[in-house]
Amino acid sequence: MDIVVSGIRPTGNLHLGNYFGALKSFVKMQEENHCYFFIADYHSLTTHPTPADLHGNVKTVLVEFLACGLDPEKATLYIQSDLPETAELYLLLNMNAYVGELERCTSFKEKIRTQPQNVNAGLLTYPTLMAADIIIHRAHKVPVGKDQEQHLEMTRTFANRFNRVYSVDYFPEPVAYNFGENLVKIPGLDGSLKMSKSDNENSSIFLADTPEVIRKKVMKAVTDSGPANPNNPRSQGVVNLFSLMSYFSSPDTLKHFEDSYQSGTIRYGDMKKQLAEDIILFTSPLREKIMMLAADEVYLKKVASMGAEKARASAAKTIREVREIIGFKPF
Ligand code: TYM
Repeated sequence: MDIVVSGIRPTGNLHLGNYFGALKSFVKMQEENHCYFFIADYHSLTTHPTPADLHGNVKTVLVEFLACGLDPEKATLYIQSDLPETAELYLLLNMNAYVGELERCTSFKEKIRTQPQNVNAGLLTYPTLMAADIIIHRAHKVPVGKDQEQHLEMTRTFANRFNRVYSVDYFPEPVAYNFGENLVKIPGLDGSLKMSKSDNENSSIFLADTPEVIRKKVMKAVTDSGPANPNNPRSQGVVNLFSLMSYFSSPDTLKHFEDSYQSGTIRYGDMKKQLAEDIILFTSPLREKIMMLAADEVYLKKVASMGAEKARASAAKTIREVREIIGFKPF
């Protein structure tokens, strides 16, 4: 049985990118693997949330995990900061992680560009913390979206380096995974390549959005003035609309709009209306569950403490063994 680990940062409501990139896989993988899914609240500190926001966002993600079908009896669901063993492994891995390789990481370079006023050490060492999350349970598979591929490559580097430095075969090589399918990247409604929480608020659709909000956002999605020549490359906004439609609409609907694009008769307004309704069909049941679960504090507390206990058992074993390998010996 494979050991599966993955996490999501609590920075607000989860969006469709989080669902198709990660959560959908989590739900499928919990059936046949030994799964650990966590809320990466240590990671979210790189953006300096207030204590109230931090706690609120952790609760939001826990609720949304459960609403999407994660089952605390099948998978271990926990909060990263309930596992200080992760922080210890992070410290240990940092001793063999080199500044040069961390600086070359695409997501770090991106942060330097987008938030030059807050390039903290947590951002630089983000990949070692992520590696610690994964190898603390000695994972084999890590369900993530395409944007996390490089972080997984770095995780393999750190795991292999540990094995080499101490001449052991202790950590497996974890791979980015999407339940047997290709890794995905869900595009934004604003013509961006990736739907993302930090974009403008109209670019992402959240699982908890109301039908009215979804209709409004989709109708505002960026398009172009229409197919002057259907053989010319499509604008990114239009590519994104078709891509989103392939996730939410039936093959017949998709074909209908493809055909009308090809014949030059497409009306983007009609396509958006259809897409919005298909997204609403998908999110409505989730939204209902989110509202019910959010009110059940007792259950959430039970899930979090049960998960913390199970995760700690696995992490404590790894840390015990790692300490011994490194040479920390009790007198
Ligand atoms: P985060 O919180 O940014 O995103 C959580 C998951 O959602 C996926 N995702 C997407 N997938 C497809 N299309 C999109 N537009 C899209 N946007 C987000 C991400 O790929 C991710 O799988 N570093 C991680 C959190 C993390 C983690 C880990 C993941 C911390 N430790 C250990 C796996 C294992 C992150 O920031 O994801």
